[in-house]
Amino acid sequence: MGPGTLAEILKDIPAAKNENLLVGLETSDDAGVYRLTPETALIQTMDFFTPVVDDPYVFGQIAAANALSDIYAMGGQPLTAMNIVCFPARTLPLAILKEIIRGGADKIAEAGAVLVGGHSVEDREPKYGLSVTGIVHPQNVWTNRGARPGDALILTKPLGTGIAATAIKAGLASQDLVDKAVEVMSTLNRNAAETARTAEINACTDITGFGLLGHAYEMAAAGSIKIIFSAGAIPILAGVQELAANGIIPGGAYANRDYLSSNVAFAGDVDENTRAIFFDPQTSGGLLFSVPAANAGPLLERLHAAGIKDAAVIGKVTAGQTGIEVTG
Ligand code: CO
Ligand code: CO
Ligand code: CO
Repeated sequence: MGPGTLAEILKDIPAAKNENLLVGLETSDDAGVYRLTPETALIQTMDFFTPVVDDPYVFGQIAAANALSDIYAMGGQPLTAMNIVCFPARTLPLAILKEIIRGGADKIAEAGAVLVGGHSVEDREPKYGLSVTGIVHPQNVWTNRGARPGDALILTKPLGTGIAATAIKAGLASQDLVDKAVEVMSTLNRNAAETARTAEINACTDITGFGLLGHAYEMAAAGSIKIIFSAGAIPILAGVQELAANGIIPGGAYANRDYLSSNVAFAGDVDENTRAIFFDPQTSGGLLFSVPAANAGPLLERLHAAGIKDAAVIGKVTAGQTGIEVTG
């Protein structure tokens, strides 16, 4: 399905009304949040997809890191996870599935969560992911709707994993790019989220299938604000610019661009390849934080000190008309 397809369908489904539903479908946020008690809210999310790398164990790690990320993007702590498995058991050895699930289980353990079950179905193409449940204090939920004029935006991982995965599938990625892309995609957003926990975070989301500009637009729309990105400040995986210049761009990047065309404007010199990277669908991408500008420098320092070396201030929030501008 293209970007927004499910959102379009859900428009016709009556919105759930419940005083304990703190985050529902309306703002296209990372997860649902439901208050259980005045001190505890439940966070629920799920995500699964087809392999993005050849190694089944690494694919399992990446798919799990990606699914767990939505809990971190809400400011929460993952507690339990369930496997979602589609697998062609008649044509592929079960040893492959075992490796996928072992990779996922290792990431779940690294997140401090517990694997409690799952479900598998026979399918022509393997797919794997998790349904994850977490908790957060109802007053400390990070939503995508709190960005305010005067905020600065921090991104914690470099872009380009969709282009990298496309190159890997085509056998066109250098070993350096494979290694770096795998490292980026399999890294939990736990460290970034915990480092930011003590800072004043006005809004947060993670960058996944709609790309940087798609998820930033969700933040802009939810908060009725304008976001201005500085193209040169946005971290990009080394080697991805060259692949984009050679036309190695996933179809999802074009779908994202078409879907967002009326809400994203480019000013100054931002070449077509760089634009494609900003629309590139990410797998297990970084967190995008909107923080009061005065706090951005100190938070960035702490992220770097915590080992999140690619974190960068990439733009700002203004009061203009809802949308995104990317300046060259
Ligand atoms: Co998300
Ligand atoms: Co998600
Ligand atoms: Co959030």
